[in-house]
Parts: sequence; structure tokens; C-alpha cells
Amino acid sequence: MPSAIAPSDDKNAVFGGNPASRPRLLKPLTYSGTLDNFKHADVTPIIGTEYEGLQVTDLLKADDQMMRDLAVTISQRGVVFLRDQVLTPEQMKQFCLRLTEVAGCPESSGLHVHPLTEEGSELGDQVSVISSEKQKKGGGLTHQLSDVSRFASAGWHTDISFEPVPSDYAMLKIHTLPETGGDTLWASGYEIYDRLSPSMRVFLEGLTATHDATFFHDEARRLGNPIRQGIRGSPLNKGDALQAVHPVIRTNPVTGWKSVYVNKGFTKRINGVTKDESDLLLGYLFNLVTQNHDAQVRFKWRKNDLAIWDNRSMWHCATYDYAEARAGDRVCSLGEAPYLDPASKSRREALGL
Ligand code: SIN
Repeated sequence: MPSAIAPSDDKNAVFGGNPASRPRLLKPLTYSGTLDNFKHADVTPIIGTEYEGLQVTDLLKADDQMMRDLAVTISQRGVVFLRDQVLTPEQMKQFCLRLTEVAGCPESSGLHVHPLTEEGSELGDQVSVISSEKQKKGGGLTHQLSDVSRFASAGWHTDISFEPVPSDYAMLKIHTLPETGGDTLWASGYEIYDRLSPSMRVFLEGLTATHDATFFHDEARRLGNPIRQGIRGSPLNKGDALQAVHPVIRTNPVTGWKSVYVNKGFTKRINGVTKDESDLLLGYLFNLVTQNHDAQVRFKWRKNDLAIWDNRSMWHCATYDYAEARAGDRVCSLGEAPYLDPASKSRREALGL
């Protein structure tokens, strides 16, 4: 076990809550350079790094240091793109489990089972099939949260924030593509935090928000599949409430940086203020995400590309601008229950920018 990882009974009061949901990192991880020899480039100054020639199957054979360097890169850059992967859904699961483990997830956190995943689904409980064709037939898990809005930006979300123990990392491999279109966008919650005034930061740091996916009950009825009520990757994620309360500003344990943690998909209410104030605050924060295109990266997929992102500090949004088939597989690991360490820094502060 690497020295930066603490036993799960660490009593650091900052984490609060249930000991089973605390991260095992005593301090943020640092990058040691093991990925430097692979061809790579930052896609924008703020978010996204793309690698060529780095295969997940080779990383699966590599030592923990290289995996840990990848985890640090994903958490710092927000999203990493690995081109042209030869990779099965089973290998994606193995890889995601190793990634979350080397990054210090709580011992009780594993791979998420989405509440809408059908029992006996084709690739197993822990792989979500993202499929435009299935969605057309009304049977696929595609996360098309935007299908009732005329604004493409309605779909910005972070995965499964309605769970008490939400996702740390997620990966999506797209194997079937339209000729053009179907891009995915990510936005940086670190950068959005950095754009708040000092007074607004202090105010938001004292608040929590309620994340709610009870609309999945309607979706489950429509699809004719019951909501998965058993353990969904953590003993704390179960039942049919599909609601959780999290801090509005959270610390990412891998980087030690603060980010904004509310999203259009699931955050319904900021607590401790009036409904009107909550609507105004959420509207403002959502606008910061959708209207700052310099805090976003847009990825144009090629067949078998893989994106891996840190859900604790990033949002993402699919683009439904195509008519042909688009399909892929998604695996999502669980991290810690979100917490705010008041001593943690903003990304710009930590990098001296
Ligand atoms: C997702 O929201 O996880 C899927 C994104 C996409 O299909 O581009």
C-alpha cells in the first residue's frame, strides 16, 4: 500500500459522515513522470489532455505508480482522452477498479450499478450501454437528460450525484459513431470555483445542496424495469430515495483543489436559503458552466476512443446532433462522500497562476 494512502479508520474530522465513505488519502497525490514518454498534448490550457499510443491494456500490466500518475493526470486535467483503444468491457471494469483503488477510494467503494440498469443486462450490472438506437426504441440507458429542452446545454451534469457516495472516475468508450456529430463536452468545476469572488466563495462554502433523481422512477415505469434498490457499488448507495445532500463546494482528495459541485442534471435545491434565492444561485452557477466556453473542452470522437474523467470536479454534456447510430460502453467507479476541507486551495492558487 503506498504511503500516501491512510487506513480507512483515519479519524480526520474534515471527512465527517460515515467512516465507510472516507477517502484513504492523507494528502493529495503528486505526479511522478512515468507517462512523460507517451505522446500527449493538453487540449486547452484549463482542461483536457490527449494521449496517443497509450493502451489501457498495457496500463493494466503496468505497476501502480504508472496507474497513480494517470489518476493524478485525470484529476488535475479533468479529462483524459486515449485514442484507438483495443479494450473489452470486462477490461474497462478491471481498469476502473484499479484506477479508483490507486487513487485512494474508500475500501467500501466499488463500481456503480445504475438504478436504471436492467437485471441481467447484456454487459452485466456495472457497464452502462450508451446507445442512440436503444434510446429511440425507449429501452436504453443513455442519460439524455436534455430531451425535453430546446437548449443543448440542458444536459450538463456530473454522474450520479444523487447517490450519497457519488462517482470519482468514469470512462466512456465509443465504438459506433455517426459520420459527424455526437461530440461530448466537459467543463471544469475547479475553474468555475476560481471565477467566483472571494465573498461568494465564503458564502457558498457554508452551504449544501440537495441532488435528486426521483425522475428516474418515471423512467423506470416507462421502461418497465424496477429501480435497482440493492447495493449500488457502496453499502451507502441503496434503496429508492435517489436523493443526497452534498456540500456546494467540495475538495478533490487527489488534487487537494476545491470545485463547485452542483449540476443541472440533478441539483434541485440549495439548502438553508429561500427557494427564490436557491433558484437564483443555481441559475448563476449553471450559467458559469454553460457560458464559459474557455472552461470547457469539446471532444470529437474517433472509433474506439476512450475518455476518462473525474466526476468530482467536472461536468459533461452529450451532443444529440446526429441521426445515425452512436453507441459505447460506460463504467463508473465510486469515490468518497463529498466533503469540503477548508484548508484546501483553488486550482489557480495551488498552481501559482
Ligand atoms: C454520459 O453522459 O455519460 C454520456 C455522454 C455521451 O454520450 O457523450
